[in-house]
Amino acid sequence: MIRHLLADDDLSPAEQAEVLALAAEIKRDPFSRRPLAGPSTVAMIFDKQTLRTQASFSAGIAELGGFPLVVDGALAGVGVRESVPDVARVLGRQAAAIVWRTGAQSRLEEMAEHAGVPVVNALTDDYHPCQLLADLLTVSEHRGPLRGLVVAFVGDGACNMGSSWLLAGATAGMHVRIGAPAEFQPSTGVVERAAAIAVTTGGSVAVLDDPVRAVSGADVVVTDTWVSMGREAESGDRLAALAPFSLTAELLAHAEPDAIVMHCLPAYRGQEIAAEVLDGPRSVVWDEAENRRHAQKAVLTWLLEART
Ligand code: NVA
Repeated sequence: MIRHLLADDDLSPAEQAEVLALAAEIKRDPFSRRPLAGPSTVAMIFDKQTLRTQASFSAGIAELGGFPLVVDGALAGVGVRESVPDVARVLGRQAAAIVWRTGAQSRLEEMAEHAGVPVVNALTDDYHPCQLLADLLTVSEHRGPLRGLVVAFVGDGACNMGSSWLLAGATAGMHVRIGAPAEFQPSTGVVERAAAIAVTTGGSVAVLDDPVRAVSGADVVVTDTWVSMGREAESGDRLAALAPFSLTAELLAHAEPDAIVMHCLPAYRGQEIAAEVLDGPRSVVWDEAENRRHAQKAVLTWLLEART
């Protein structure tokens, strides 16, 4: 059976732990795994802007012995010039795996259905599972075992990162709190999925509209841009509604004294996060950015091995 990583809960708790252990091993010994030796090609399609994802996948694929093929989504016209299933069939004959950053989750699901090779979500409107694996690796490096840690995500809880923290954090047995105004809270469906996972892992999920309550006693405090890619037209309304959820030094003072601060980047200093917090001693954002490469190498290795 071909395995894909389309959403965070495509990995069971045991599988997530396996991938994270593999990521740590690969970080210690970067050239120990060569599943793409040949080189085999991995196709990466970008329908949205990218810096970290393109750089970390390209470097990681090369380190796995492979060739990173970047496909410009606009140039290819995926779903416009030709259908998603036809693109899947074509790229699936050229590449060992397909990595795709796009909008609708349904497009990614359609790609996975027709590609014949593993498909990896490199961010959709709904989820960002590669970022979460990098983030969980980063938390474990700074805080040890994930199970039982309290993580607070404050800001746009309805964005891909909020949903991915709920699902991946619950899978890891963490206590995940989302602090967001009512109109920016995650969908009931995602909260229910995460809650069902948490029952099996000893974690928990909570959605709160008070940023101080969300952050109080947290071991990990996370935020993300208030204007995700594709939401630019709503920028003015979002900035006004989300202002009370800015991750300032004052808000962070309610977390554990040794809490770490995370942000997937790009960050907008003075909006969702204060410059002194992002650039301060508790911020681990550059470790997160580096860990994208290690985590994604583990994902590709794991998916390619799971196939055989
Ligand atoms: N929520 C952000 C994440 C960027 C990596 C977005 O979708 O733009």
